[in-house]
Amino acid sequence: MKRKTELGGTFSIASWILFIGLFAALLYHIIAKRAIEMHNVRATNAPDLAAFINDLEFNITTISSMSCLHLRGLGTVVTGNPGLIDYRFAPLSTFANYSCINTTKGPTIMLKCSRCPLSRDNAYISWQFVDLPNSPAAAAGFQFNLTATDPKNKKHVSLVSGTLRNGSNFDDKPVTFRGLTPNILKFNFFPRLYHNLNDLKLIQPLLHEFLPGSSFDEISQLQASLESPNDGLINTTLYINFLSSYIVEIKDQNVMGPGE
Ligand SMILES: *[C@@H]1O[C@H](CO)[C@@H](O)[C@H](O)[C@H]1NC(C)=O
Ligand SMILES: *[C@@H]1O[C@H](CO)[C@@H](O)[C@H](O)[C@H]1NC(C)=O
Ligand SMILES: *[C@@H]1O[C@H](CO)[C@@H](O)[C@H](O)[C@H]1NC(C)=O
Ligand SMILES: *[C@@H]1O[C@H](CO)[C@@H](O)[C@H](O)[C@H]1NC(C)=O
Ligand SMILES: *[C@@H]1O[C@H](CO)[C@@H](O)[C@H](O)[C@H]1NC(C)=O
Ligand SMILES: *[C@@H]1O[C@H](CO)[C@@H](O)[C@H](O)[C@H]1NC(C)=O
Repeated sequence: MKRKTELGGTFSIASWILFIGLFAALLYHIIAKRAIEMHNVRATNAPDLAAFINDLEFNITTISSMSCLHLRGLGTVVTGNPGLIDYRFAPLSTFANYSCINTTKGPTIMLKCSRCPLSRDNAYISWQFVDLPNSPAAAAGFQFNLTATDPKNKKHVSLVSGTLRNGSNFDDKPVTFRGLTPNILKFNFFPRLYHNLNDLKLIQPLLHEFLPGSSFDEISQLQASLESPNDGLINTTLYINFLSSYIVEIKDQNVMGPGE
């Protein structure tokens, strides 16, 4: 994966999303409330960030007829930047409590990080579903929910949720995910300080990018893949970028006149 370029590109991507995000939020608030929410973006320092402690919860269901018996490899978190001194592998339990539950839609991986610090730059977590006798690794898509709450003020939740389905990438032609190339879900986490809500400190998660892994849209190709043990997995990687260089501060301001 092109981690170096990704890191180099972080600022422009982040500012683009911020810009679009702020613009949409401004429009929405003008329409809904006739009051403008003022957003200031300011560089953070260590004490600011240390105050951002949120509970994060992530569920992802691999839409399939598989179960948690197919699951392998979940248990490690990688943080930091390859080649640098902060790069390390750690047990996933140091980062989040995790489990797998069977649901009617397929196996759901649940990750829960209580009082999660924002102090790291990025993290990734990878897992695989593998072929079992008479039950191949194959999926029609992924469904996820990600929430953040401030343990000091649980009334407000920030949420991102979505479905990455078969056919959502190529002309609506149904596809089946299976094979070596990983499915990568990239999320950005923005710290936001709501002065208008008792200084609520909430992390805003956004899905930044989905890089679909190996998939098949022709029955004959799928058949061939099902017979190839090398293809016998679905690799999913959750990549989290903590955009901790800036804090978005939010205040209310009346539209009726300047200076109010
Ligand atoms: C996400 O939340 C919705 C609505 O609460 C729920 O129907 C769905 O099953 C959830 N999906 C996962 C993967 O937790
Ligand atoms: C999930 O379902 C499989 C097969 O139905 C079962 O063997 C397994 O114990 C279940 N796992 C969990 C965590 O419920
Ligand atoms: C895991 O759960 C336990 C008990 O609820 C909690 O004390 C601990 O902080 C959690 N660990 C993480 C990394 O969130
Ligand atoms: C793709 O998804 C549709 C529903 O959205 C389902 O009817 C179809 O069977 C799926 N195809 C494959 C190949 O998984
Ligand atoms: C994750 O799934 C569990 C079990 O279905 C549910 O209790 C929890 O609310 C879900 N969390 C999110 C963020 O969807
Ligand atoms: C799964 O993909 C990740 C990269 O996203 C890679 O580091 C890992 O080696 C892959 N695992 C397997 C078993 O292929």
